[in-house]
This record gives sequence, structure tokens and C-alpha cells, in this order.
Amino acid sequence: MSHAHQACLNPNCAATYDIGQILTGCPACGHLLDIRYDWDQIQVPSSLEEFEARWSNRRNPLDFSGVWRFRELLPFAPDEQIVTIGEGQTILQQNDRLAKQLGMNADRLFLQYEGLNPSGSFKDNGMTAASTHAHMVGAEMTACASTGNTSASLAIYAGVSGLFQCVVFVGSGKIAYGKLSQALDYGAKTLQIRGDFDDALARVREICDQHPIYLCNSVNPFRLEGQKTIMLRVLEGLGWEVPDWIVVPGGNLGNCSAFGKAFQELLHLGLIDRVPRLAIINAAGAHTLEQLVNSHDLAWNSGDLDASTVGDYYQGMDARNERANTLASAIEINRPVNLDKALRAIAVCDGVVRSVPDQEIADARAMIAAAGFGCEPASGATIAGVRRLREEGLIGADDRVACVLTGHQLKDPDLTVAYHSTDEALRAKKLTPNGVMETPHANSPVVVDNDVAAILEALDLPAAIPGQ
Ligand code: F0G
Repeated sequence: MSHAHQACLNPNCAATYDIGQILTGCPACGHLLDIRYDWDQIQVPSSLEEFEARWSNRRNPLDFSGVWRFRELLPFAPDEQIVTIGEGQTILQQNDRLAKQLGMNADRLFLQYEGLNPSGSFKDNGMTAASTHAHMVGAEMTACASTGNTSASLAIYAGVSGLFQCVVFVGSGKIAYGKLSQALDYGAKTLQIRGDFDDALARVREICDQHPIYLCNSVNPFRLEGQKTIMLRVLEGLGWEVPDWIVVPGGNLGNCSAFGKAFQELLHLGLIDRVPRLAIINAAGAHTLEQLVNSHDLAWNSGDLDASTVGDYYQGMDARNERANTLASAIEINRPVNLDKALRAIAVCDGVVRSVPDQEIADARAMIAAAGFGCEPASGATIAGVRRLREEGLIGADDRVACVLTGHQLKDPDLTVAYHSTDEALRAKKLTPNGVMETPHANSPVVVDNDVAAILEALDLPAAIPGQ
């Protein structure tokens, strides 16, 4: 018997549903759903250290997975139905070089590099969980809308497992080539909607409501269960100590929501004794959460949310015909579906929200890469956010900060190449329209004639000395 169920997030409704049901919202009131557990019926390790023993048993795919080796903390699936492709082998790396650039002390700044996942982004943490639930309920067709990484991730799980077909909806011209190429390569039926992500998500939800297609976007509550484990690996990397800050980019707000839920549950289970603060970083061109929280005082309020504040804000956006616009295409989202859950995470983790312009995102991305970690633009928002919060004095020089680098550098090489390029036409096309006017961290390629003397000159080396 399962000790997990689905529950409506809205405390005034609080309806519960069996985990065998395929739901992406509460049928009674339309709010988001959570997966909840009867913890007193479940055997959970008495300390987080106990999970370390799993590594010695890593020939078992469930103990190898960086998600399922924590399976007692997301106990909704029987072991034999878990769909895993070896996700979550990711690392937390201390980066003193970057810390110094941000005016932080050594041994204080950490990067959680989720680009090492099989499909190159953190999405695999969630997709293994959604695929598992899809398998549990016998889904034959799955779907998602995506700014690119969710589609790559769903496509790889469908392709490797062979358990279900998949169709992915992407906005036309709104997806980085690396990600589009993955969906195509892994065999997903790929629909390029004439519209942006917000449009694509609205359409895929309509279609999944009307047909037996299993939706894998982060409104799927099972997906977020897998994403909780990113925080478990951060804690593991810190010897199970809780950092002062977790910094994460915010798009559809699934990841930050999952992090808040993870810490709430760990605290409830007595596995940690305090929670870190959470900083969610929006791109300035897609800053709905930041605006609602900082300029419209929207807060979780124990689940009693002021829906009219959100409704008015969305109406205003529509009236101005405002569409999300950022070079960090992964987080180019104006109607984040997990807004309510993100507000809860902010309440649980005493969180803050900031937005950063594309100039700062592009510079931070280049700084992270120069310090040894290639990541995509959205992930650059983390370090741009830390810089802001350092300037404000909210993050102290001695605070221990873990930034989640959500996607791999090779997902979006266009921006990287344009940033380093001296080709004015390329820069004018890719950078200038989004306000990236300077490239202080550029490392431009040197064009040189196919000639040894010219090459030596370019290298600042003297002409070859005969006999040497
Ligand atoms: N970083 C990357 C690299 C992403 O791909 C996304 C989301 C985010 C951050 C934001 O995470 O949505 O949980 O707040 N990408 C989605 C997609 C929307 O379709 O791949 P979030």
C-alpha cells in the first residue's frame, strides 16, 4: 500500500487524490497539486549520512541514480517501476576564484553543476520521477511544452526507456539550437508552435486535458519530487551541513518550488535543524515573480493568496502586449505556472527575488565559464544575482552560498560565440537587441594567415632561430 497521495495546495480546498490518478491541477478548485506522504508510516533513515552507504551498492541502478538513492524521501513508486537512466551524477564544486571576484571569502561559494545530467540539464532529476509515474499509470503518450531543456529531457527518457511515445511543443525561434537538436535526435515528435513558451504551454495543457496524453511539465507534481534531490546532493557535497543561501534561476518556478518543499520536509523529519535562505533570480525581461513579490507585495500568506493581484498583473501585461524577452531563453517565461508553490518556498526559506538584465547575465555566464564551469545563460543569472545581493549587503562575504548551474554550456553556444566574437554583424544581431553592449569577459579568437611567421607574430613569439 502506498503512503503517498496527491493533495491540493489551496488550504481552503485541501482535497486529496490517489497517486494512481493523472492530474496536473486540483479537479475541485484548479489549484496546483503536491505529493504528500504519511511520514509516520514510512521508514526514513534517522540521519542523512545513512544515504552514503548506497554508493557502495551502486551496481544497482536505483542506488547509482543521484535521485533514487534518496528514494525514501520521495517514496511514491515501487522500486520495480522506477525509470532511471543514471541521472543526478552531478557535483558540488567550491569555486574560490569566482568567490574572490564577488568579494567573498575562500571556501564560501559553491556551484552545483546540473549540466552533467544525461540530457545536460537539471530537468532529468524531475523527468525520471515523471517518467516513473507515467510508467506506473501505463501512459503510452507523453507531452510537454518547453523552452528547450524539458523537451530534451523528456525526449531522452522516452527514447532510452522505450516505454512511451513523446511529443514536445516549443515556441518558434525561441529555443536554443543545442536543445532543439536533442529533441530531434532522441526521436521526439517536435511541434514548433507559432508563439512563445507561454503559448505552447497553454496549448499542450488544453490538448492533454482532452486526450489521454500524460503531461510532463512542472505542473506535474511528481516531477518536482525528483527535483528535490538537487538539494540533497548540495547538502551531501557540504558534508550534510546546511548552507546559508541557495541561489537558483527562476523560469516556470518548478525548481525553486521543489527546493522549498525539500527543505520543509527535511526539517519536518528532523534531518536538518535549519533551512537555508533562497534567492530566486529572474531575467529582467521575464520578471513576473520579481515584480509580484517586490512591487505588488504578493506573498504566500499560508496559502491564502491574493488572486486579484496576480490577475490584475496578467491583465496589465496583456494590455501592454508584453511578452517575455531575454537572451536566457530557458527562463523566457512571463506566466510561471508554479507561482503559488514558489511563494510557499519563499515563505519556508525566507526567500528573496531579484531580476537581472541580460548584460549582467551574459557577463556572469562568461565569468563562470572562465572559472571552470560551462553553463547556459539562464544559469548565469545565479552569479549575476549573487553579485546584486552582495552589493546590497544581503549576502555577506562569509556566507556559504550554493548556486545551481541548471544547464550545460553546449546547450546554447550561439550566445557564447557572439559574446566572444569580434564580428560586429553577429554582435549586432545577437547581443545588441537585448541590451548587451559590452563584453568585458570576451576572449576573442585571433584570425591569422596560414603562415608560420604570421602565427608566431600572433603568439608574440620571435621568428624561429635556425638550428633550434
Ligand atoms: N535553467 C534552465 C537551464 C532551464 O532550462 C530552466 C527551465 C530554468 C533554469 C528555470 O527553471 O522553470 O524550474 O524555474 N526550463 C524549462 C524548459 C521551462 O522548458 O526547459 P524553472
